[in-house]
Amino acid sequence: MGKDVIIACDFPSREETLGFLAKFKDNKPFVKIGMELFYAEGPSIVREIKERGHKIFLDLKLHDIPNTVKKAMNVLSRLDVDMTNLHAAGASEMMKYALEGLTRPDGTRPLLIAVTQLTSTGEERMRDELLISASLPETVLSYAKNAQRSGLDGVVCSPLESPVIHENCGKDFITVTPGVRFADSEKGDQVRVTTPERAKELGSDYIVVGRPITAAEDPVAAYEKAMKAFVG
Ligand code: C5P
Repeated sequence: MGKDVIIACDFPSREETLGFLAKFKDNKPFVKIGMELFYAEGPSIVREIKERGHKIFLDLKLHDIPNTVKKAMNVLSRLDVDMTNLHAAGASEMMKYALEGLTRPDGTRPLLIAVTQLTSTGEERMRDELLISASLPETVLSYAKNAQRSGLDGVVCSPLESPVIHENCGKDFITVTPGVRFADSEKGDQVRVTTPERAKELGSDYIVVGRPITAAEDPVAAYEKAMKAFVG
């Protein structure tokens, strides 16, 4: 699996996003488009960024009844993104339907990965509000195995969880990992953070880096630093 750095383009508008991407002259980073930008600008922003030659991870985290997710994934498949995702909490039937919907008539499809437990949900909240009594690591691993059995390509998880997921699901099951910070940068609202070097050692396949690149004084230099550390 090709290791890569994915820049989280968490911007509120087309102008800000394209202004940011225009700084990259020599390379075309893999970018993540999330709910904020997609809901603000719609599918056209995806097409526009794709036309500029970037790979795209469309991070919309679908979670609904199987038939609705299948139809939504079918619409997303036409956007020609490289990776998209859903919530593993939607369970196996929803994940299988999602794959069917995402597969294009010629048999190709974007990578489909599952969100296990959001990093914003701690064990206490899982137990008290979601009534899940298993530990967080057990839950993450169980959701990952379920995603794999359903035919998905991987999961979004913490770099710290990559080793156990690869041990149990195999090295080809992709781990896409946010929560990455340079040793000398601000943590922001992320709690458990890992450097690009450490994420590489832990076996992450893709790191998702937002503010350490988007808010850097020199985003291109910050991106290159992350690439050098993670991909080499
Ligand atoms: O700016 P920062 O590097 O914290 O951005 C991380 C990106 O990864 C954000 O787009 C955030 O929504 C996303 N993400 C995360 N933790 C998860 C899932 C997604 O930080 N568990």
